[in-house]
Amino acid sequence: MEIIRIFLAREVLFQDVRRTIPLGIVAQNMLDSSRRQKKLFRQTLFLKKMKLPIRPRRNRKSAAMRGMVRETALSVANLIYPMFVQDGENDDQIESLPGCKRWSVAGLVEECRRLHGQLGIPCVDLFGVVEQSHKTPDGREAHNPKGVVQRAVQALKAEIPELLVMTDVALDPYSTYGQDGIVREIPGGGVEVLNDETVEALILQALSHAKAGADIISPSDMMDGRIAALRSALDDAGYEGVSLMSYTAKYASAFYGPFRGALGSAPKFGDKKGYQMDPGNAREALREATLDEQEGADILMVKPATCYLDVIAAMRAQTNLPIAAYHVSGEYLMLKAAASSGWLDEKQATLETLLSIRRAGADMILTYAAPQAAEWLSQE
Ligand code: PBG
Repeated sequence: MEIIRIFLAREVLFQDVRRTIPLGIVAQNMLDSSRRQKKLFRQTLFLKKMKLPIRPRRNRKSAAMRGMVRETALSVANLIYPMFVQDGENDDQIESLPGCKRWSVAGLVEECRRLHGQLGIPCVDLFGVVEQSHKTPDGREAHNPKGVVQRAVQALKAEIPELLVMTDVALDPYSTYGQDGIVREIPGGGVEVLNDETVEALILQALSHAKAGADIISPSDMMDGRIAALRSALDDAGYEGVSLMSYTAKYASAFYGPFRGALGSAPKFGDKKGYQMDPGNAREALREATLDEQEGADILMVKPATCYLDVIAAMRAQTNLPIAAYHVSGEYLMLKAAASSGWLDEKQATLETLLSIRRAGADMILTYAAPQAAEWLSQE
C-alpha cells in the first residue's frame, strides 16, 4: 500500500495526468475505505476527465442494456439431443458420457416425454447400440425393419408425434470393422471403405428409417454423392417430406472417443481418414457445402464444433441453408471432467460454449448437454 501511495503522489505531481488514470484504476481495488485514502484516490482519478466521446462501456451498463444489444441468443429451440438406444429392458449409464444412457425403447420414450414435454427439447437424434452378435462385415442389421432404431422411431412417433425424430445413417455401429461403410480388405493389410457400395447400403438404411417414421435423416458417413442418392431414393419411395441433415464437414477427429466407447464402434483396423476430413482443411469444407447444397441437403452440419468455429463461420458466409454443429462427445466430456474436478463452473462454461457455437453461425446444436442446458435456460 505504502509503495502505491507514494507512487500515486509522485505521478500526480510530476507526470502527465493522463498516465495516472490507469494507475488510479488499479489502485481503486487496493485502497481501503479510510477517508484519507478516499481523498487521495479522488484526486488521482478525477484530476482530469478523459475527452472520450466514444465509450463502448455505455452499452454494457446494466443487465437491461446488455440484453437489448446482445447479438446472439441460445434457446432450447436450437438444441438437438443425441440419444443411444439398445435392445432389452435396461437403461444403462454410459461410463464415458456421464449423464447419458443406453436406453431401452420403453425408457427412451419415457425420457423423451420429459425432454420434450417438460424441457421443450424439439428434436432427438437416435443412434443404435448393437450387440456384437448382430454385427456383420456388411452391417446389414442397419436396415433391419425390426432393428432397434426402427422400433424406437416407431414408438416415439406413435407416443410423442410432435417430437422431431432424427436418425443417424452410417454403418459403423453395425459393422464388424467399425467403419462407416462397406469395407474391402486390402491384400497385405489394411481396409478400404468403398464409396458407391456404401451409398447403396445407406439408401437401404435411410429408407427403413423413413418407413419407421423418421422426420430427419442424418448421414454421418462422408461418402461422395450420398445426399443426391438418398434424396432421389427417398423421393422415389414417397418420402419427399423427410429431411436430410448432411454431415457436410465431418473431421477425422480425436474428440469422438467417448462416443465410440458408448457404442463399442471404434474402428477395428486403421482409422477414418480416407473419408472424414483432414483437420487442416477449411476450404474443402466449403467445397463439400457447395456439393451438399446442389445435391439437395436441407441442413448442413459441421462436426466437431468448438475446434471448427472458423469452418462454421465460413460456411455461414457461403450458404443460405441452415447450419447445424455437433458438439461431440469429447467436447462434452472435457467440460464434464473439468466441472467434476471443480475447475470450471459447469453451467457457465457449458452455456458459454454453446453460445459461441451459435455466434460462429450455427442455427442448431447437437449436444449431450441439451437436457441440462434446457433446464438452465428455463431458469434464466
Ligand atoms: C459415426 C459417428 C460418430 C459420431 C457420430 N456418428 C463417430 C465416428 O465417426 O467415429 C461421433 C459423435 C460424438 O463423438 O459425439 N458415424
